[in-house]
Amino acid sequence: MKNKLLLDLFLHSSQTFISGEEISRRLKISRTAVWKQINQLRDMGYEFEAVSRKGYRMTFIPDFYKETDIQANLNTKILGNKIYIMETTSSTQVDAMTQAESGAVEGTLFIAEQQTSGRGRLGRKWFSPSGKGIWMSLVLRPELPIRYMPQLTLLTGVAVCKAIRSVTGAEAAIKWPNDILIQGKKVCGILLESATEDNKVKYCIAGIGIDVNLSTEDYPEELTEIATSLKLETGHTIDRALLIAEILNEMELLYDRYTSEGFTPIQVEWEEHSVSIGQAVRTETLTETIQGVAKRLDPSGGLVIAAPSGEERVVYSGEIEI
Ligand code: BTN
Repeated sequence: MKNKLLLDLFLHSSQTFISGEEISRRLKISRTAVWKQINQLRDMGYEFEAVSRKGYRMTFIPDFYKETDIQANLNTKILGNKIYIMETTSSTQVDAMTQAESGAVEGTLFIAEQQTSGRGRLGRKWFSPSGKGIWMSLVLRPELPIRYMPQLTLLTGVAVCKAIRSVTGAEAAIKWPNDILIQGKKVCGILLESATEDNKVKYCIAGIGIDVNLSTEDYPEELTEIATSLKLETGHTIDRALLIAEILNEMELLYDRYTSEGFTPIQVEWEEHSVSIGQAVRTETLTETIQGVAKRLDPSGGLVIAAPSGEERVVYSGEIEI
C-alpha cells in the first residue's frame, strides 16, 4: 500500500496537526504526492481536517471489517456460515450471483468496504463509498415457487428494520416495498434478485445497502435531501460488524418462522414496522396512476391501495410516493 507510511504517521500522531511540509520532509515525497496520498486515504474512508498554516489532522478512522467481529455476535445456524470480505468490488450482488451459480451454499455472505458499480432497484446506481456503509449480498436457496419472491423481499425489510432499531435505537421504518427510512429519509435499500428453474427459485440474492457512518459531506448533492445515515440520525458512530450480525440473526429467525408458519406472521410484523400503511400514496404503473390510502399488504406481498371511491387496487411492483 503506497500510502502506508503516511497512514502510520497520522496513526502515531494522536490527532495533532502535521504540516504538509513536515510530511513531505519525513516521507521524502513531494507536497503534491502528500496531497494525492491524503486524497487516496479519504477515498478509503479516512477523514482529515485541513487548516491553512497548521496542516492536516486525522479525524476519522474507518472500522474496517474483521470476520471475527461479525462472528462474535452471530447466533445463526445457516446465515453467515461463510463470509467473504472484499476491500473493493464492482457489486457484491454480482459476486454473490456468480458464486451462487457455481454452488455457493445458502447463507454465504459477500461484504465489500466499497462498491464501484453498486446496483439499486429499477436499474439505478447505488452510492457505496468506502468504509462507511454496509454493502452486502446474501445467498439464499429457499424452496419456493417464484411467485412468493415478493414475500421474501418484505421479510428482508423487516429483518433489517428490526436490527437497525435494536442496534442503534433509531426510529427506522419500512416504506413499501422495502426501503428503510428514518424521519422520512432513506437509510437503507434492499434488492432481491433470483435465478429460477422450472418455475421455482434456484437461488436468490438479498442485497442490502445501509448508509451507516456517512457524514453530510460524504453525500453527492443529489442525495442530500433524500438520504441519511445512521450516524447522522443518532449522532454517533455505529459498529457495522455488530449490525451485520444482528441483521443475520433477525433474518434467520424470520426465515425459520416463514418456513414453518407461512407469510402471515411476517405480514403482521411488516405492517407494524411500516410507514406506508394508513398514508395517502400515489404510484405510477405502465398504464395509469393509482392514488389512495395504503391499507395493508395482500397475502402475496402486494400493497392494497383504497381509492377515494372505496375501490381497492393491489400494486405488486414499482415505487410509491407518500
Ligand atoms: C435500492 O435501490 O433501494 C436497493 C439498493 C441495494 C444496494 C445493495 S448494496 C449491496 C448490494 N450490491 C449492490 O450492487 N446492490 C446491493
